[in-house]
Amino acid sequence: MTNSFLRKKSLELLQRESEESSLKRSLGVFDLTMLGIGAIIGTGIFVLTGEAAAGTEHALGAGPALTVSFVITGLACLFAALCYAEFASMIPISGSAYTYSYSSFGEIFAWIIGWDLILEYAVGNVAVAIGWSGYFKNLLDGFGLHLPGYLSAATGTDMVQLPSGMWTAITPAVQETYADTFATLPTETALINLPAFLITVVISALLYIGIQESARVNAVLVLIKLALVSLFLFYGIPHFAPETYWEPFAPNGWQGIMTGAALVFFAYVGFDAVSTTSEEAKNPQRDLPLAMIGALIICTLLYIAVAAVLTGMVPLGILANEKPVAEALIAVGEDRVALLIAMGVTLTMPTVLLVMQLGQIRILYAMSRDGLLSPRLSEVHHRFLTPSFATVIVGLFVAILAGTIDISVAAELTNIGTLFAFVLVAIGIWILRVRRPDATRKFRAPAYRVVCSLCILICLGLMVALPLVTWIRFLMWMGLGLLVYFMYGIRKSKLNRPEDLV
Ligand code: ALA
Repeated sequence: MTNSFLRKKSLELLQRESEESSLKRSLGVFDLTMLGIGAIIGTGIFVLTGEAAAGTEHALGAGPALTVSFVITGLACLFAALCYAEFASMIPISGSAYTYSYSSFGEIFAWIIGWDLILEYAVGNVAVAIGWSGYFKNLLDGFGLHLPGYLSAATGTDMVQLPSGMWTAITPAVQETYADTFATLPTETALINLPAFLITVVISALLYIGIQESARVNAVLVLIKLALVSLFLFYGIPHFAPETYWEPFAPNGWQGIMTGAALVFFAYVGFDAVSTTSEEAKNPQRDLPLAMIGALIICTLLYIAVAAVLTGMVPLGILANEKPVAEALIAVGEDRVALLIAMGVTLTMPTVLLVMQLGQIRILYAMSRDGLLSPRLSEVHHRFLTPSFATVIVGLFVAILAGTIDISVAAELTNIGTLFAFVLVAIGIWILRVRRPDATRKFRAPAYRVVCSLCILICLGLMVALPLVTWIRFLMWMGLGLLVYFMYGIRKSKLNRPEDLV
């Protein structure tokens, strides 16, 4: 057993597994690019940009220099995407960074990264579902339909019903705004965030039925999402007045820019989920690199344009809320476009949930197939040809957490988990270039030493910018993971029993 936790899967074994996969290969380069964009554009750009630009009580805002924050995070992700693309072209099997680590570092590191990716995909989806729920409730309130307080927020949140009829969490700002009448307003304690719970159940049901159907729904929603961003730019650009609003450009200097960058990093999370669908791609070695890099470049350009126009059309104060894009349009008198965009965001944001959920399921599928998790998680449904049991388990995990916990806890953990995964993937590419220069790579990251070094440095920089409490939670989660590995995975791994290897 000595060093058994450092055993590796050979590239040849991984390639054989890919050829023998029982999942249905139905995704082309268009579907894959749409999946990438579907996972990227969501809560980050439509919700978090406002806070990142204007700042909060606890964090300095980037101001108009949010554009620079988006360039920095975009570069880190582009370097990471080049590494992911090289791996995906070399090891086209389900499991993404988890599988890549199995061949470059060894089993325990693969386990660590697989466990870590639960933070990116499942916990990330918890944050997205809660963010979506906020938009949805806002829209309902706009139509005069008020969801009861006990069904609208994380378990235990104290809620108050405002004179307009809408229920909201009791915060110091709310108490201050309604200071005169606050004592007379009805209050109650939230039991569950029902919209966040239900949207996750719907997405899981879709994924249970089949990936082809999911990809089709996704493609339509992504096209609408791109139209919404274009609509914002179309109506926003005529109001763009940098000479008024870009003075000063970076009110909090580099500190504001970096704090903003650490926050809007969430906006890019998800492009790598495309690499988890390798076994369902028709031509993974060619199409995955194209789709990941293509989706990322399209979104980075759109993000930079949105950040520039948003901060250049209204004063920062207008952006300090959870629907900055809609509020900016209202402020310049484009109310109808704002309503259309708010409705469109509610309709299309679930694509993020869809793709990230898909990614999580495929990673559990891969870990289970390797023996590190229960074999039930890699059972494929006889009719739908999807990992049905894993779909149900992930659905329940995300739905329950989304219904009960707070968005900030989920979002912070997602960012640290994803940054950690990017660092390991960049190190992995470097190691395999040195150890296996002969391996077939249909895509090669250019100037890999520079790309890997920059990816590692920027990601570590952003990790360091995250709060201590996030680090503590992250280390606790990883500690729990190691416990599970030493109690289960190390004994059940298929690498213990060569006769079980595919
Ligand atoms: N990038 C995804 C979003 O912003 C997670 O919602």
